[in-house]
Amino acid sequence: MTLQTANGILNPKGKGIMAYQYTTWTPDLETGHPVIDGQHRQWIAAVNELFDAHKNGRGRKEVERTMAFLIEYTNKHFNDEEGLQQKYGYAEHPAHKQIHADFKKKARELAGELYRSGPTEENINNVCVTIGRWVVNHIKTADLTMAAYIRSKVAQQPLALQKRTYPRL
Ligand SMILES: [Fe+2]
Ligand SMILES: [Fe+2]
Repeated sequence: MTLQTANGILNPKGKGIMAYQYTTWTPDLETGHPVIDGQHRQWIAAVNELFDAHKNGRGRKEVERTMAFLIEYTNKHFNDEEGLQQKYGYAEHPAHKQIHADFKKKARELAGELYRSGPTEENINNVCVTIGRWVVNHIKTADLTMAAYIRSKVAQQPLALQKRTYPRL
């Protein structure tokens, strides 16, 4: 039996309460690029949605659907980001792309584990915390540097072009 508490769930294996460690978006994650920032917020929301799907007892199918969306959104975001890097001739593009590729593999492994073993508290926490921490760390390191580069490139363009290539969401 699993006991629900205000802070999380009581681990049925007697390991105490496993709090849901939600990933929170904080202002220091803001890259200044409206498209990238919008996607990062959505990405973090997708991680937390997985917690909620489990916490609210929506069932295995729904948890799997939420996990699949998270993987799909991760791929979409990486593709869009890599496209911007190429467009603006970012020298770090190959290295950044490799970091994305390594994480895509890791995320697929986590999803596979979740599908195989089912949505247990341990599995959900493992997936959400591993992905959440990676996302925050990646934004703070690789993405902030990349966005600063893109901003500098866009700033060199004529104003009319800046408005077109740097859309406000
Ligand atoms: Fe990103
Ligand atoms: Fe990235």
